[in-house]
Amino acid sequence: MAVDTERDAFTGRQTTGHEWDGIKELNTPLPTWWLYTFYATIAFAIVWCVLYPSLPWLKGTLGYTERKGVAATLEKAAAGQKTYLDRILKSSVEEIRKDQQLLAFARAGGRIAFNNNCAPCHQSGGAGTLGYPNLADDDWLWGGTAADIEQTIRYGIRSEHDKSRNPPQMPRFGVEGVLTAGQIDDVVEYVLSLSKAPHDAARAARGATVFAKECVTCHKEGGVGNREMGAPALNDAIWLYGGDRAAIRATVFSARSGVMPAWQDRLDDATIKMLTLYVHSLGGGK
Ligand code: HEC
Ligand code: HEC
Repeated sequence: MAVDTERDAFTGRQTTGHEWDGIKELNTPLPTWWLYTFYATIAFAIVWCVLYPSLPWLKGTLGYTERKGVAATLEKAAAGQKTYLDRILKSSVEEIRKDQQLLAFARAGGRIAFNNNCAPCHQSGGAGTLGYPNLADDDWLWGGTAADIEQTIRYGIRSEHDKSRNPPQMPRFGVEGVLTAGQIDDVVEYVLSLSKAPHDAARAARGATVFAKECVTCHKEGGVGNREMGAPALNDAIWLYGGDRAAIRATVFSARSGVMPAWQDRLDDATIKMLTLYVHSLGGGK
């Protein structure tokens, strides 16, 4: 660049030869400290590229790779999990409940499995929705002990599993013509009266007779429900299929039969136990 340049008379420095309207550009060298730092960074970069992986085809002579570190961390975590999972496999649900540390691990694992497998029906946190029972309250169709819950999860309700809970089917009173439309209206008013909802007293009184004849075998005297056959209590404010007049009438007319799938053959044993303990911990567990 600095070919035949002249010297600037005032500073004595060489000029670059560039000139604008009589103003000449001086060829001032870079400060030495700056220049050496610059060379040092270049040297550093070259050494780094040789030692460490830098470009796809430069793997580095030190053989360093972050993957090893990640793999080691993952291995350590998996080993830690495995000790817990092995203990869960070897213990019964009752035994796990007595071990605070194991229980905490099981509940955390159960929560993840619940979100993946159960939340589509039971909603997150087991809050439930129409047709899918709330698992976070104290109201159980089939019982809320850990053993009850475990059985329900393993084999399901009206599922295809041989050991499924398989209650006698509630008759389709309207569809099959077991009751007349008038009798259905009466018994619906009686069901409303059981939970102290507004109702027609005269109809409810007539409905009580129908109830005694057609419904008590399953729903029991006063509609308290029967966990042996998953017959819901009708005397509270908790409804699986809706508690207004129209919803109750629809249930009595054509009956419902909610299906809870069996998980025995879909999830491993440890996961089922963890799910049991998670559901049991949701608030309503006995
Ligand atoms: C396809 C929808 C569906 C899925 C998925 C499902 N359930 Fe259910 N579950 C139901 C229905 C419907 C019932 C109520 C059956 C009845 O009417 O008796 C039920 C009932 C239950 C009950 C008994 C509640 C009681 O009051 O006694 C438990 C416990 C339960 N489910 C846990 C689970 C768990 C844990 C999972 C995930 C592994 C799961 N469910 C996945 C539909 C489902
Ligand atoms: C053979 C047993 C059986 C008989 C008899 C029976 N039910 Fe049911 N009932 C059930 C079962 C089981 C369920 C739960 C169905 C399900 O979970 O899908 C149920 C559900 C209901 C529900 C829905 C409750 C809710 O929470 O949404 C109502 C209402 C009801 N029955 C009313 C009656 C009335 C009224 C009669 C008599 C006219 C009757 N049932 C006779 C077994 C029976």
